[in-house]
Amino acid sequence: MKKKIMSTILAAAMTGALLMGCSGSTGASGSAAGEAAAGEEAAAAENAESAGDSTEASEGDAAGGVSEAVADGELTVGTNAEFPPFEFVGDDGEPDGFDVALIKAIGEKMGVTVTIENMEFDSLVASIGSKVDVSIAGMTVTDERKQSVDFSDPYYDAVQYVLVPSDSAIASADDLVGKTIGTQLGTTGDFIAEEIENATDQQYNKAVDAVNDLVNGRLDLVIIDKNPALVFQEKFADKLKALDGADFGFEPEQYAIAMPKGDTALADAINGALKEIKDDGTFDKLVNQYIEQ
Ligand code: ARG
Repeated sequence: MKKKIMSTILAAAMTGALLMGCSGSTGASGSAAGEAAAGEEAAAAENAESAGDSTEASEGDAAGGVSEAVADGELTVGTNAEFPPFEFVGDDGEPDGFDVALIKAIGEKMGVTVTIENMEFDSLVASIGSKVDVSIAGMTVTDERKQSVDFSDPYYDAVQYVLVPSDSAIASADDLVGKTIGTQLGTTGDFIAEEIENATDQQYNKAVDAVNDLVNGRLDLVIIDKNPALVFQEKFADKLKALDGADFGFEPEQYAIAMPKGDTALADAINGALKEIKDDGTFDKLVNQYIEQ
């Protein structure tokens, strides 16, 4: 089972046959149906509002307990399926991975349908509250992002890793000075690389493209989260090695679901569902299913 999933992850990671950009909707619906659904959503939101006795709207309604975002029974979730094992495009062309399975389990507990929208990582935060209700994308909680979105309770610990060619002498922070570093645009790895003295931060929309350039000798290293680094190391076992970012002074990170600011009803529902999933063993089951230990 795990083997099968790992090979799917690797295949998906390397094909580059990934759904990207604005046409990247991976919901069951085509665009016409999508528009119809959007219309329904608006109608449902209106109903929800007129049913209530106040005009409290998108700021959320802790007392009422129902978030407008899911009043239509649908939770639209943004991700960037370029980040195995947390999200990748499966053999069937649909987003899969730990985060996708987790948010579907959360949706089930909340009694809503989950629709996944695959988009570029760098546009996820800005899309919350407009294109999507929430985002799950191995997204690290940062103070800067907190200015635009709220985060759920954290669900996974992470740290940035350093991927280098197997024969590289890079081993400590000092060795990063002046190097050419590949990162995925808008990620914490990108932000770290920007700060490294005299280094060139080469930004890619897809992490896999950075990894391919590393393998082809165009980069000295790639900075990427631990678990994706381990997946890529396994894929290129003879060519790459993954080094723990803690040895480079990189700070611990935590992943959480990004949500619209101030929608406490939605936050409560998501955090409640997440807690249930942890308590009933579903969470550990998904970790075992998707994440190589
Ligand atoms: N944890 C890093 C960040 O939040 C990288 C996340 C990249 N995720 C993805 N699905 N591409 O910036």
